[in-house]
Amino acid sequence: MAIQKEQIKTALAHVLHPEKKVDIVSLDMIQDIIVQDKYVSFTLEMPAQNGPLAQELSQRCEGAIHKFIDRDAVIDIQIGINVSQQRQTPPPAPELEPTASPLSGVKNIIAVASGKGGVGKSTVAVNLAAALARNGAKVGLMDADIYGPSIPTMFDLFERPDITVQKKLIPLEKYGIKLVSMGFLVDVNQAMVWRGPMVTSAIKQFMNDVEWGELDFMILDLPPGTGDIQLTIVQSVPLSGAVIISTPQNVALDDVRKGVAMFHKVNVPVLGVIENMAYFSPPDAPQKKYYIFGQGGASRLADELAVPVLGEIPLEQPIRESGDNGKPIVLADQESAAAASFLACSANMQQQLAIRAAQMPKHLSISFTGKSPSAHT
Ligand SMILES: Nc1ncnc2c1ncn2[C@@H]1O[C@H](COP(=O)(O)OP(=O)(O)OP(=O)(O)O)[C@@H](O)[C@H]1O
Ligand SMILES: [Mg+2]
Repeated sequence: MAIQKEQIKTALAHVLHPEKKVDIVSLDMIQDIIVQDKYVSFTLEMPAQNGPLAQELSQRCEGAIHKFIDRDAVIDIQIGINVSQQRQTPPPAPELEPTASPLSGVKNIIAVASGKGGVGKSTVAVNLAAALARNGAKVGLMDADIYGPSIPTMFDLFERPDITVQKKLIPLEKYGIKLVSMGFLVDVNQAMVWRGPMVTSAIKQFMNDVEWGELDFMILDLPPGTGDIQLTIVQSVPLSGAVIISTPQNVALDDVRKGVAMFHKVNVPVLGVIENMAYFSPPDAPQKKYYIFGQGGASRLADELAVPVLGEIPLEQPIRESGDNGKPIVLADQESAAAASFLACSANMQQQLAIRAAQMPKHLSISFTGKSPSAHT
């Protein structure tokens, strides 16, 4: 007997999304069903690039159709990627009047923050941007660390950006990532003496007077800490979410609490914590992991604060060297374990964004055509 379209949805409703614990039909992940006799084709819309998950769900879909409808059905599943926009319009910050229009082409703005300096915030921000770009997304990276900009060094880029006739700054571009940093514009020693309002007005210009164009993701490398400057910046930018960087020591974990509290205060969802320098793997025995600063601190804290851990990054000389040499490890040594750890964090971050987007009204969903997820994960 010929298979009916409605049977397909009923069968696929047995397939649960492993993280959201909801079936994939209710999540609107099944599109474009075509049925012809025993031939079934449909698109599995993935809310983020995640090759292993796409593969797992495809297998379960096939299993469900074979089990509940016809074990001889011939099934053809296309994978679609749909990065959704998840941005909120913030209330005006004391010094800043946010203007929505210059960023209207930017789908997701993600702040990378830490309560403490030197934990690897810039290293993670740069590698997350590189991971997203490597997977085919349009990515921008804004160095909001006015006092200690790292992006010029981490991209080995010390040019001055051009300005359009409308007096808009054209971001520099390297490895397919659009970049803006105070380090491109002024002598950093000068910026060191800037007071809070000058810093926030510079950030305002980075938001409003830069030709960012169409971006799937903008990553914001925040200055370290959770003080007034950080608070004003996060209030003035329409953030989709925040990622907090920590190291495993207990003192650093205390700072994570402060970071989470800061974002809660301004109603920005914390997408998760990334534990940097989590363990050391000796180059001559890369399968070994030495948890020098202790193990499991971030996940205990994440449980306490109800915030996911997005991943662990090893403490490795090549990560530092690639930062100093101007090419993020995700691009400099694409097959390395370090690159894989950043790619996993990026996939988990997108997953968290997607979970939040799924809870938003449907009309905010915007398609994004990336490369096939299987090509990179
Ligand atoms: N996982 C890692 N393995 C090895 N070195 C690392 C790692 N993460 C960061 N580093 C190195 O540690 C130093 C500090 O990192 P980074 O500049 O990214 O920190 P930060 O939190 O942005 O600092 P700041 O608070 O000054 O902005 C850099 O030299 C960087 O290369
Ligand atoms: Mg930094």
